[in-house]
Amino acid sequence: MTQLINPTILVVGLGKMGGTLVNGWLAQDVDSKKIHVVEPNPIQVMGLNCKTLNIYQGPREININFFPDIILFAIKPQIMDMVVPEYERFKEKSTYISIAAGKNIAFFESLLGSDSSIIRTMPNTPASIGEGITIACGNRNTSQKCKNYFFYLFETLGQTEWINDENLMDAVTAVSGSGPAYVFLLAETLANAGEKAGLDKNMAQKLSIQTIIGSSLMLRSSQENPSVLRNNVTSPGGTTEAALSILMNEKGLNSLICEAVETAIKRSKALSN
Ligand SMILES: NC(=O)c1ccc[n+]([C@@H]2O[C@H](COP(=O)([O-])OP(=O)(O)OC[C@H]3O[C@@H](n4cnc5c(N)ncnc54)[C@H](OP(=O)(O)O)[C@@H]3O)[C@@H](O)[C@H]2O)c1
Repeated sequence: MTQLINPTILVVGLGKMGGTLVNGWLAQDVDSKKIHVVEPNPIQVMGLNCKTLNIYQGPREININFFPDIILFAIKPQIMDMVVPEYERFKEKSTYISIAAGKNIAFFESLLGSDSSIIRTMPNTPASIGEGITIACGNRNTSQKCKNYFFYLFETLGQTEWINDENLMDAVTAVSGSGPAYVFLLAETLANAGEKAGLDKNMAQKLSIQTIIGSSLMLRSSQENPSVLRNNVTSPGGTTEAALSILMNEKGLNSLICEAVETAIKRSKALSN
C-alpha cells in the first residue's frame, strides 16, 4: 500500500458502491474521522459499520472551512449533472474522483471547469472484501500527489491500475465493473441446472458456489492460463467434453459474452451524454 499519505475523503452517495468503498476502507483501518459522507437517504447510512463518520444530508451542511483532499462521486450517472456542480467550490484544493459508468472526464470538466483535477475510475464490488480491481485515468491537472491518493484509497480494496487512454474505460466497465454480475449469473444458472437435473436446491447451490470459488482460487494460484486449466478437466470422450461441445459451439458462451460486453460498452458510451 502507498503509505505516505492519509487524505481526507468526502464520499457523495452511500449506495451499493459508495457503501462498499467506505466499509472496505473502515475494514482496512482507514481513520474514520478522515471519512466524510453526503447521503440524503438515512437508511443507507444505517448500513455502515461505523458510527463515527462525518455524515451530511447535503453539501450545505459541510463546514465552509473544510476542504477534503478527495471528493468521490458515487451517485448514479443519471443525476451527476444535477449534483456535481454543488461541489465546484472545492476545486482549488480538492481532487475529484468519479466511479460512475460512462461519464467521461470531459463531462466533469464541463461541470467543474477544465482547471479542476479529475480522476475517472472503475472499481467493482469485490472491493468490499479487498478483492476488487480498480482502473483509473486522469485529466492533465492530475498531479502525482492526486494519483497517490487514488492508489492509497483503492489499493486497500484490491488491485489497481492506472491507464493513460481514457477510451479504454468503456471496455474496462464492461469487463470488470459489470463482470461480478456475470459470475453471479453463472452461479445462479449452474445451480438452476443442477436443480432441474434432480438435485435439491441447497445441494445444487452448494455445488455451484463452491465450484466457482475453488476454480477461482485455482486461477489465482496456478501458473497456467484458463484454457490450459480447462483442458486439464476435459478428458477426450468424457462428460466435460460433452458439456463443452454445447458451451463452446458457435452460439455458445464465447459469442454470448462477447455480445454482452459489446452491449455494456454501448450503454457505457450512451451514459456519457
Ligand atoms: N454497483 C456496482 O457494481 C458499480 C460498480 C462500479 C461503479 N459503479 C458506479 O457507482 C455509482 C453508484 O452506483 P450504485 O450502484 O452504488 O448506486 P446506488 O446504490 O443507487 O447509490 C447511489 C446513492 O446515492 C444517493 N444519492 C442520491 N442523490 C444524492 C445526492 N444528491 N447526494 C448524495 N447522495 C445521493 C442515493 O440515495 P437514494 O437511494 O435516496 O437515491 C444512493 O444511496 C454509479 O455511478 C455506478 O456507475 C457501480
